[in-house]
Amino acid sequence: MSEQTLILVKPDGVKRGLVGEILRRIEAKGYRIERMRMLTATDELLAKHYHEHTEKPFYTGMTDYMKSGPIVAAVIEGTRVIEGVRSLSGATEPTAAAPGTIRGDLGRDWGTGEIENLIHSSDGEESAALEISVWFD
Ligand code: PPS
Repeated sequence: MSEQTLILVKPDGVKRGLVGEILRRIEAKGYRIERMRMLTATDELLAKHYHEHTEKPFYTGMTDYMKSGPIVAAVIEGTRVIEGVRSLSGATEPTAAAPGTIRGDLGRDWGTGEIENLIHSSDGEESAALEISVWFD
């Protein structure tokens, strides 16, 4: 049964001209882009999207990074796409992310103190539904 997930190409991905490469990897895997938009994140959208993390020490720095330029939000569709896109994305820290993944191949630590890791992808069915509604409703 087909399902949907939400991805964000984060500001570092857009600034570095990697939107095409990131979407190419997702499409090459066989998943379909169902909806897509470019926008600059706001505090309100980020508070909904990262609602589980608003009290974390990294929250302010992370949201400053997420607002630092335009992002691309997309709904991706396919059987087991949530799991599949998480696997394509790689581990949170780009330095440690496995080669072959988006973060492992294209990301690094730039010494900014923030984890600039190029892509967000939903981690489960519930978060995918919520995140799609945040960025597309
Ligand atoms: S936790 O505390 O283990 O639940 O957090 P984690 O899953 O590692 O991260 C949650 C999201 O916060 C992002 N993150 C950061 N971004 C920038 N800078 C710093 N220091 C930082 N720490 C965590 C991390 O990438 C996760 O966001 P997404 O969009 O899901 O990748």
